[in-house]
Amino acid sequence: MGDLRFAPRAESLHGSATLQITAKAAELKAAGRDVISLSAGQPDFPSPPAAVEAAARAMREGRTGYTASSGLPELRQAVADRWGAMHGLPTDPARVLVSCGAKHSIANLLEAVVREGDRVLIPRPWWVSYPEMVKRLGGVPVAGEGEHLTAEDVRKAAKEGAVGMIFNSPSNPTGRVHDARETADLADALLETRMWAISDDIYEYLHYGEGPVPHLLHARPELASRVAVVTGVSKTWSMTGWRIGFAMADPEWIALAGRIQSHTTSNAPTMCQYGSLAVVRGEAETDRLSMLEAFRNRRDLMCSLLGDNGAFRFPTPMGAFYVFVDLRPVLGRLDTASFCISLLEREGLAVIPGSAFGAEGFVRLSFAASNNDIERGVKRLCGFVSERA
Ligand SMILES: Cc1ncc(COP(=O)(O)O)c(C=O)c1O
Repeated sequence: MGDLRFAPRAESLHGSATLQITAKAAELKAAGRDVISLSAGQPDFPSPPAAVEAAARAMREGRTGYTASSGLPELRQAVADRWGAMHGLPTDPARVLVSCGAKHSIANLLEAVVREGDRVLIPRPWWVSYPEMVKRLGGVPVAGEGEHLTAEDVRKAAKEGAVGMIFNSPSNPTGRVHDARETADLADALLETRMWAISDDIYEYLHYGEGPVPHLLHARPELASRVAVVTGVSKTWSMTGWRIGFAMADPEWIALAGRIQSHTTSNAPTMCQYGSLAVVRGEAETDRLSMLEAFRNRRDLMCSLLGDNGAFRFPTPMGAFYVFVDLRPVLGRLDTASFCISLLEREGLAVIPGSAFGAEGFVRLSFAASNNDIERGVKRLCGFVSERA
């Protein structure tokens, strides 16, 4: 191994910061410990029967070869129809690329626009992959200054040479949803610049507020030529393992991203595209709504249990399935990574340290877990914290 010369850019990437916790949790479970995980980044429901049946039918009928690299034409059209109607975009399939998960959609879009040395504004706290995806392309991630992206961040970043930004509302890890005013301010600030933006809308349907999540394109439709929309089936329909994501953008941007995909993965798995077509066309709306309702109840449960313990500060999340808890008042001299490791070792509870998201002092609790696990998990957290007090 010592003879291999690796690429410095690859070596500069951080592995998944959540890995240490998941590996440790698996080790403890294997040793027979009762471990509760509030660390999941995925829904815990089965995928909708309509998706399963459509994928199985495709396989039974022999539709198992390659598709067009950018996706099945009927799926691209269905995506253009569904999200075009939602965002007032042209329902043109040339504006859609089907990729292997929303993560792949973002990576392809970035690869088409990020040049060596380009500065790209990302939220703080950030989803773990944003900075690494930008760095992988030789770009420089620049995080916003506050606890969520603001118009001021956009203006400052543009002044300092940023060429684009990634926006994520509802957010992983905070569950925060930018309200209509904040979103319009961001859109206005973008309009003053020449920056492109990728709106990562993967949690758009997991929204506990009234109506749809405010969107840059609703605020300023004239941004359509430089705002790309990313979404997918993973979180909305509990289909994380299917690996299907969608990018929607200006046809030239999509064509270039599609060319990149054609030389890397080619098409996303064929049977998964057929399964996704069923849900995008609306065949699993009842499943979608019942999962949303379950998440809303779990959110209420987790927030009420955490609230009963006066030690925790946290905003009630309005989207996604995470509560981002400010532990600074109880941490003392401990950093959050060490806190999470000892919480796991002593209490058998796995949660993700905020340092993974650029927010030391916080932990992310996922309510993509059963009521029983939420109840027992929060109890363990409270017990652990009170022992330290
Ligand atoms: C903010 C955010 N964007 C994108 C993704 C990726 O989604 P997918 O599983 O479809 O690649 C995730 C998954 O955790 C996420 O949290």
